[in-house]
Amino acid sequence: MVAILGYSREQITEAVQDMYTAVAHTPDARFHFPVGAPACTLLGYAPEDIQRLPDPVVASFAGVGCPHNCGMIRPGDRVLDLGAGAGVDAILASHRVGPEGCVLALDLTAAMTRKLKDHVDQAGCDVSIIQGSAERLPLASESVDCITSNGVLNLVPDKRRAVTELFRVLRPGGRVQLADVVIHRPVTVDCHTDPRLWVECVVGATVDEDLLELFRASGFEDVDVVNRHDYFNHSPSTQTRDVARGFGAYSLELRARRGGEAPGRLRQWWTLWGPQRWPDRVRRRGLAGMLSLVAALLVCYGTLAALGLLTMLGMGVSLNETAWAGAIALFALLAVIAVAAGFRRHGSPWPGVLAAAGGAAVLYALFVNYSLLV
Ligand SMILES: C[S@@+](CC[C@H](N)C(=O)[O-])C[C@H]1O[C@@H](n2cnc3c(N)ncnc32)[C@H](O)[C@@H]1O
Repeated sequence: MVAILGYSREQITEAVQDMYTAVAHTPDARFHFPVGAPACTLLGYAPEDIQRLPDPVVASFAGVGCPHNCGMIRPGDRVLDLGAGAGVDAILASHRVGPEGCVLALDLTAAMTRKLKDHVDQAGCDVSIIQGSAERLPLASESVDCITSNGVLNLVPDKRRAVTELFRVLRPGGRVQLADVVIHRPVTVDCHTDPRLWVECVVGATVDEDLLELFRASGFEDVDVVNRHDYFNHSPSTQTRDVARGFGAYSLELRARRGGEAPGRLRQWWTLWGPQRWPDRVRRRGLAGMLSLVAALLVCYGTLAALGLLTMLGMGVSLNETAWAGAIALFALLAVIAVAAGFRRHGSPWPGVLAAAGGAAVLYALFVNYSLLV
C-alpha cells in the first residue's frame, strides 16, 4: 500500500506522507489496492450511502473496510475520523450525527487535508478539518463520543501510543469503529529486509489477535470483530496477492467501548505478554514443532543426566524405561504433527515428509534398535 523504506518513525512517516500526497494528487493512477466506488461496493458500503456522496469523494476512497458496519455512531455524537483521507467516512458520519452532532476529520498528510476540505465543501457538510498525527492527537482529553477510522493504524509506527491516544480523547463509555489491515502470522526479522514487503505494506500491519489485545490492554472493553474481508484478493497486482497470502493478510472491522480507567502498566504488560498468550504466540511463529523437538531431547538426555547426577550423589534411583521412552516418543510425535500441520503454510509436502522421516527414525531407535541411530 505504501513504500516504507526505513525503520525510524521519521522515515516511515515521511514515506506515508509521500504516498498519500501522490494519492491526493493523482487518484486516477493505478494502485495495487482497490480504490474508489468498486472498493466501496466490495467492502459493503450501502448503495444509498454511496449515492449521497459527490463522485470525486467516492473516487478517492482508499479504505480497507466499512467501519459503519459496526454501527457505533449515534445522532448528536461528536465524532473523530482518524486518518480521514478524502473524506468518505467523515461525510457519512456527518449524515449520521445530524445537526446536533459534529465531525472532526484528522489526517497526517497536508495534501490530503486540502483535498478533504474541497470534498467537504462539495458535499455541503459541516466537518472540521485538522492536520495531525494519530500518535499525538491535538484534542482535549475525553472530548469525543465516537472515533471512526479506516485503513490507518497499519500505517502508524507506534500503534500502542495511537491506541492510548484514542483512549485519552474518548469520553468514558465512548465508542470506536475501525477498519484495518491485519496479518495472521507475524512478519519475521528477515522479512524486514525484503523490499517487496515494505512496498506491499505488510510489515506495518499487526497480527490480528495482537491488535485486539492491544485494545483490551489499553482499557477498551467489548472489543469485537464485526466483519472480515479478503481485501488483498481484490488487488489488481499478482505480487500483492502473493505477499498478502504469504502472511495471511486481510482486513477486519472492529468495534470497542472505552472503559472507565486506563489500566496500569503492569496490567497492560500482563494482558499483552502474560503466559496465557504464550501457546498462541508459539503456534503463530511456527515454533511448536521446534519446541516439541527440544522437549523430546530434554526428556531424553535430561533424564539420563539427572539419573547420573543422582547416582553420583549416592541416591539410588531406577529409570522406568517405558515411561521415559514413551515421553520421548510423545514429544517426537508432537513435533511431527506440528510440522505436518504447517503443511499449508510451507506450500510444499517436503517439511512434513522430512519431519515424518525424522520422527520414524527416533521411534525406531527407541523401540526397535538404538544402535542404528548411533
Ligand atoms: C489508507 S488511507 C485511508 C483514507 C480514508 N480513511 C479512506 O477510507 O479513504 C490512510 C490515510 O491515513 C493517513 N495517515 C497515515 N498515517 C497517519 C497518522 N499517523 N496519523 C493520521 N493520519 C495518518 C494518510 O495520510 C491517509 O490519508
